[in-house]
Amino acid sequence: MHKSENSPPNHKYLKALGLSSIIVAIYSPLSYAEINTRIESGNPAIAYAEDGGWTGQWAYLCVDDYCGSAQLVDGFWQRTVTEQAIVTGESYRLQLKVQDNVLSQYISPEYTITADAGGDGGGTTPPPIEPDAPTISASASPSNATVGEVVSISATATSEQASITTLSVRVTAPDNQIVLNETISQAQGAWQFTPSLQGTYQVTYQAIDNQGETGQITDSVFARNPVSGGDGVVINEIAERYRVRHELSGNDFNNFNVEYWEGRFGSFVLDDYTLPSASSLRQSACGTTEPCVVVTLNSAIPLAMTDVFGNEKSCNQQTPNWRYHKIYGDETNFSYGYVMDVVLSDGSVVPACQATRDQRATATTWRAVMQRWPHINRPFEAGEQIEFETTISFDRAQTTGDNVNYYGQTFRYVLGQGLTVNNRDSAVGPLNINDSFAQLGGDTTVPQLSASGGAQQRLSFMQHAYNLDRGNVQSWLDGRRLIHTNFTTGDHVEEFLPGPQAINGNLPFPEMAGLTTDPIQPSCTQCHTLNGVGDMQARQDVVPPKMFGLGLLENIPQETIEQWARENGGTINYVTVEGQQYVGRFGWRAETMSVEHQIAKALHDDMGIGTSFEGFGPMELADNHVQDMVVYTKLVAVPTPRQNLTTMPGHNRFQEFGCNSCHKMTVQTGTDTEFPELSNQTIHPYTDLLLHDLGEGAFRTAPLWGIGLSGYVKSGDANALTLMHDGQATSVDAVMQRHGGDAQAQSDNYFNASQQARNELVEYLMAL
Ligand code: HEC
Ligand code: HEC
Repeated sequence: MHKSENSPPNHKYLKALGLSSIIVAIYSPLSYAEINTRIESGNPAIAYAEDGGWTGQWAYLCVDDYCGSAQLVDGFWQRTVTEQAIVTGESYRLQLKVQDNVLSQYISPEYTITADAGGDGGGTTPPPIEPDAPTISASASPSNATVGEVVSISATATSEQASITTLSVRVTAPDNQIVLNETISQAQGAWQFTPSLQGTYQVTYQAIDNQGETGQITDSVFARNPVSGGDGVVINEIAERYRVRHELSGNDFNNFNVEYWEGRFGSFVLDDYTLPSASSLRQSACGTTEPCVVVTLNSAIPLAMTDVFGNEKSCNQQTPNWRYHKIYGDETNFSYGYVMDVVLSDGSVVPACQATRDQRATATTWRAVMQRWPHINRPFEAGEQIEFETTISFDRAQTTGDNVNYYGQTFRYVLGQGLTVNNRDSAVGPLNINDSFAQLGGDTTVPQLSASGGAQQRLSFMQHAYNLDRGNVQSWLDGRRLIHTNFTTGDHVEEFLPGPQAINGNLPFPEMAGLTTDPIQPSCTQCHTLNGVGDMQARQDVVPPKMFGLGLLENIPQETIEQWARENGGTINYVTVEGQQYVGRFGWRAETMSVEHQIAKALHDDMGIGTSFEGFGPMELADNHVQDMVVYTKLVAVPTPRQNLTTMPGHNRFQEFGCNSCHKMTVQTGTDTEFPELSNQTIHPYTDLLLHDLGEGAFRTAPLWGIGLSGYVKSGDANALTLMHDGQATSVDAVMQRHGGDAQAQSDNYFNASQQARNELVEYLMAL
């Protein structure tokens, strides 16, 4: 129990600093108001924390390392504790995290409190802890041990007013045998024991001072049998860049935060034990026989140990948070979360607050075991959809810019399977897009974050592949930086909605300054704005096409394209590079054979910058930079449609009219040894990459994926379309009028159909 002295937090001071307008999480020492806390055993057990007058749209009450959402009742945040048994007389760590408009969130100190039997509701004030009882700090290493492995434990006791006379330690095995029991007449000690059984070992430390005051803490060490891999475990590796805010929280999710290429990314591995075939491995992996997902998170750089004011954070803020189970209908909040454990270099796992500060300060790998739905009090089941994200705050010294919190991407995941684009939250976007065309770009496809526009949707063509490989995330971000670099001044060009910390702009790329002096445009993005359809530039006769899914198009097997040409006509534009013939794929006339070829051509022809690519020298931009641009351009994600395409009447119309003879609806990519993201994907590009003459010369069949978003991306108006190679067609009718020549029959089918059938087709294209 802790008494309030200066709550609520001092908002005025923050306002004076001009911080009130920044919506980021700030761990402020000012926010460390003391509050009343209480934990009651019983059925159910209930934890309470006093409200300090915060905005409180959401709150989490953490008991030990487990956080669950709390409700405000009679001035106290409270929640039932179902994740562990609460025993009268035992002590627990309790912490409140609550929304506050000024601070973003208030995070209480972590209180160690003793549970009582309760029954009298929240808010009563239990007797205060003796102020001068000894305090004990202790650690166990490893805290997640393997059976047979030596565990080292140590403890230090202190007391402000008195000297410590004895320190004792007791370790109780899962079968209740006491395996270590020792008392020393010192304030500090170190011991060892070797677990011989799988399960939880209770470790109790007690210190007594010369006034007879007693302090006690308990801790636990989990010992597991050595894990042997098994067929039933589903393993997913996922890379991500960190966001300023949660998905759809303001406009700071799909945009790019300051110096996004500098350490602000990471990856994680999900070891998923939810399939029944993994059941024999669960006790070892999950610590119980219940289905679980073991999360191992890895970031490029370590976390901040201090807050923005340079003050030390509490130990459980010095590792990332893992949050899961999104509250549907609520844009940003997750019901449950874990303070992640620290994974040490030898692979052992230590709870955040039991790791040493140095271990926390250097860690870049953390772990959490995700299991159970606490709100319905039952285990996970394979096939259920779950959403999760990370919260992470980096060490400022290791990067540039700020060190405020970042959030991970909100991933949608089906237990026992893998990522899905399926939306379950109407606050986020269209619901239940999960038919066989939902993943237009295979596993690269990103979920829709809006049904009807908004800043997030303007950025629909700017995201990395959902299945981005951890080995490619740094290159992707470096490539994006280059594509957003002005090659005359070296400045970073962020066209739209930089993150709040990027208001003063991103750092320039000085090595790139002066590479070009007379370009048509000095940065790729000045033609390719937001990767959407661009405007016609001087010295060009076509508009810049939209740019996503290009790596997938590059991986459509040559034989497939040749077979389409044999079946349906259409011309392959063969291009020769270094003496070898390739199928031309990119540009309105399919003049380049690869993304790399197209980029080398753009650098050379549009900007006057040479590369080592044959025909586009002499080299001025080094290969590694060109490669980064290639990685970026190949791995821009395809967005999901806004409706289940296969159930729309237009899906049949498209085929009845014969559009699919050229605009191929489904194809399988080949194997790409360099880019696993692009390998063997079933995609729906609506192109055959062949040249057809519709009456205006030979042009490549335009890929139709994303065309329903292209108007919105370009101008914020979904209906303001700029279609065809010259961007002059502003409606599907106008496009069909220009489908003569090889597409005359299909155009006739369209115009001869009923108005309703045509509307159905247009609606279909606009959902793409
Ligand atoms: C002056 C305007 C301009 C600049 C600058 C420019 N592009 Fe382009 N880009 C175009 C146009 C126009 C096309 C279509 C070319 C064609 O059809 O021949 C195009 C096509 C492309 C394509 C092929 C897309 C597809 O679907 O076939 C890629 C990839 C591309 N550009 C990348 C880049 C990169 C990377 C840069 C910067 C190094 C860049 N471009 C700079 C105007 C530009
Ligand atoms: C013979 C092959 C062929 C057929 C059949 C065909 N198209 Fe096309 N389509 C093309 C080509 C080639 C282009 C690019 C033409 C240009 O830009 O000049 C194109 C462009 C388009 C575009 C503009 C895309 C953009 O991004 O600018 C749309 C929309 C479109 N077609 C829809 C249809 C529909 C709907 C049908 C059926 C009623 C159809 N097409 C039938 C070959 C075909």
